[in-house]
Amino acid sequence: MALYYFFLYTLFSLSLSFCGTSAVNYQAINDASNTPGGIRFTNKIGIPYTKQIMRTINNFVWTTILQQSDPADQKHVSTMIVYIQQYKGAEAIAWGDNINVSSVYLEGYQGDVKWEFTSLLHHEITHVFQWDGEGQAPVGLVEGVADYTKLKANYAQVGFAEPGSGDRWDQGYDFTARFLEYCDGIVPGFVAKLNKMMRFSFDVKYFEDLTGKPVDQLWQEYKAQYGHVV
Ligand SMILES: *[C@@H]1O[C@H](CO)[C@@H](O)[C@H](O)[C@H]1NC(C)=O
Ligand SMILES: [Zn+2]
Repeated sequence: MALYYFFLYTLFSLSLSFCGTSAVNYQAINDASNTPGGIRFTNKIGIPYTKQIMRTINNFVWTTILQQSDPADQKHVSTMIVYIQQYKGAEAIAWGDNINVSSVYLEGYQGDVKWEFTSLLHHEITHVFQWDGEGQAPVGLVEGVADYTKLKANYAQVGFAEPGSGDRWDQGYDFTARFLEYCDGIVPGFVAKLNKMMRFSFDVKYFEDLTGKPVDQLWQEYKAQYGHVV
């Protein structure tokens, strides 16, 4: 009998993987529910919204940002958990397949906290699913891709870098996101293609492989387009 169930289970798992359903189990846990930030989370955002938006953002990252319609290209995640945690420091942090959001940050945020939370999750969920060359990619580039998702989803916060700003291509966050947007204008799907190349390794030459120009030249032309001489 046990063997029979094992057989059924194997068939079931195989059919799941062959159908290409990359079913992620989305969970959200408010570990700070008795704190002011945790209470604000419950009143203004809530667990049901969080789980729903996790799915929406995950699909946006797969289809629009990373363009991974083939599940074989996607990072495999079985369960992703968003924890609302009481800690001071980074607003939110991705660790493995999970994300911690600071209740202290949610408490102090001035403005539409649900919008801000959604913006943050665009960044952090990108971290969960992007490739980083197995740790070889520059941190600034990894952060840039995460902010690029915010930008493309219209969740760029007030004060997000303007096109053409910044000092270095790998400065990170919104500066690198704007540069990636420029690269995407030269080679459609640039970010998706670069991410695909970054699955197992990183080489700055990937920029040249994709655009025909070294990254330093791209950066100079980008700056020049916006009237900045470097
Ligand atoms: C995030 O929160 C979880 C759950 O309490 C904790 O176990 C983990 O260490 C935290 N991770 C980071 C990177 O702070
Ligand atoms: Zn980040």
